[in-house]
Amino acid sequence: MPQSEQSAAYSVLLRYATIADLSNIMTIEYQCFSSPWRADTMRADLEGPKDRKIYLALEVNGELAGYIGAHYYAGEAHITTLAVDPQYQRMGLGELLVLTLMSKVVALGGIYVTLEYRASNRAAERLYAKLGLVPVRIRKNYYQDTGEDAVVAEMSGLQEPECQATIEQLAADWRRRHQHDVRVRI
Ligand SMILES: CC(C)(COP(=O)(O)OP(=O)(O)OC[C@H]1O[C@@H](n2cnc3c(N)ncnc32)[C@H](O)[C@@H]1OP(=O)(O)O)[C@@H](O)C(=O)NCCC(=O)NCCS
Repeated sequence: MPQSEQSAAYSVLLRYATIADLSNIMTIEYQCFSSPWRADTMRADLEGPKDRKIYLALEVNGELAGYIGAHYYAGEAHITTLAVDPQYQRMGLGELLVLTLMSKVVALGGIYVTLEYRASNRAAERLYAKLGLVPVRIRKNYYQDTGEDAVVAEMSGLQEPECQATIEQLAADWRRRHQHDVRVRI
């Protein structure tokens, strides 16, 4: 499907990722990252306890098109990975994955979402800023392949009513801007 079809409306399913998704996840992982995770690292997370390793899969028309992963512990969710198949990028799906994960963390009683991204990653920078994740510090020379810095960003106070209202507003804005038919099974 050409990337230019930005107004296309897809049948989207959000569900928990399982070990059966490993191969398709790794295909997207290799397309999206210059230093992809090893398959056995991904496997360990997919096989981990579901209350600690939250991995969501996004299907478009029945095929895996993206995923997000987070480690959850003591009220804090650390987003470890996020990727959308290049042929489905710029259609709101990355935003949908992050918003769905945030809602899940709220439902679990979580308080913080944290993550890091490469300082040069403009797509990540804008996506997370749009969703209210605030850059809080730099980790110098964090990425081993290039020595690039990481930007650490976070959202706190997830149980505060204002924060939940913000997430709900972001989700409503998303639904207004995108025509995809979304089913959520998590
Ligand atoms: C980052 C990524 C997940 C975004 O997914 P996506 O589905 O293309 O993003 P969306 O269509 O939901 O975009 C949401 C917002 O993110 C920002 N954004 C996304 N891609 C962008 C790009 N290439 N350039 C600038 N801003 C971008 C925009 O603010 C966009 O909002 P808008 O459409 O109103 O302008 C995707 O580009 C990707 O998989 N990249 C490779 C892997 C990666 O970098 N993962 C993040 C690591 S922390």
